[in-house]
Amino acid sequence: MEFSREGVTLRPPTEDDCQFLADLGNNMKTQGWNQRLPPIRVPEIISERMKEGLKKPYKAMLMIDTDQDGTVGYINYDEEKPRLGATLGLIIGEDYWGKGYAQIATEIVLEFLFEERGLKVVSAWSQSGNVRAVGAAEKMGFKVSVRVREGTIMYGQLHDTLCLDMLREEYYESRGKEDKIGSC
Ligand SMILES: CC(C)(COP(=O)(O)OP(=O)(O)OC[C@H]1O[C@@H](n2cnc3c(N)ncnc32)[C@H](O)[C@@H]1OP(=O)(O)O)[C@@H](O)C(=O)NCCC(=O)NCCS
Repeated sequence: MEFSREGVTLRPPTEDDCQFLADLGNNMKTQGWNQRLPPIRVPEIISERMKEGLKKPYKAMLMIDTDQDGTVGYINYDEEKPRLGATLGLIIGEDYWGKGYAQIATEIVLEFLFEERGLKVVSAWSQSGNVRAVGAAEKMGFKVSVRVREGTIMYGQLHDTLCLDMLREEYYESRGKEDKIGSC
């Protein structure tokens, strides 16, 4: 399948992306799922993690390139064997929010994970204070499946840590697609 759609292309990261990724990780607004993480990312650490991550067969780390705005963000997934699932991570640089890039990049990865990897479920972690991320995930069809009450701090306030997920059958039904292999 194509990793390019509607002016958005997903590609592996290179050393040149490490500063951009460090900046996203150090910005409390784009370090989306848990603001408790300290803002101590440096390009060297990102580079080491990138090299380790790229060696793993059931994980993908992809930069989000766009025809209009260049590189705008990052999307990744890690497969989890027992549940035949994967967990997504996604960051779009603040300057590029609201342009639909998260939706398009996620749609490409969802198609790959359900159609080509045959997974049963795709999950993403966020938190109740991140209304934008939760709203964007729900718009794509993710549903809250786990709520850890007061599990996250953002701007000095407690919020619930949330896991949102999408089941295989929900993906096919909501996209009006036929599931040719069924749930594995
Ligand atoms: C969450 C994030 C990825 C969204 O990126 P984006 O490119 O702005 O998202 P899109 O433009 O594709 O989609 C925006 C959708 O979010 C939802 N949304 C936006 N603001 C919202 C709000 N205040 N309340 C509820 N939903 C909201 C809407 O459904 C909106 O769609 P619409 O514009 O058609 O109404 C981006 O804000 C980000 O990187 N945040 C920091 C990192 C993060 O939280 N990552 C997700 C956790 S894994």
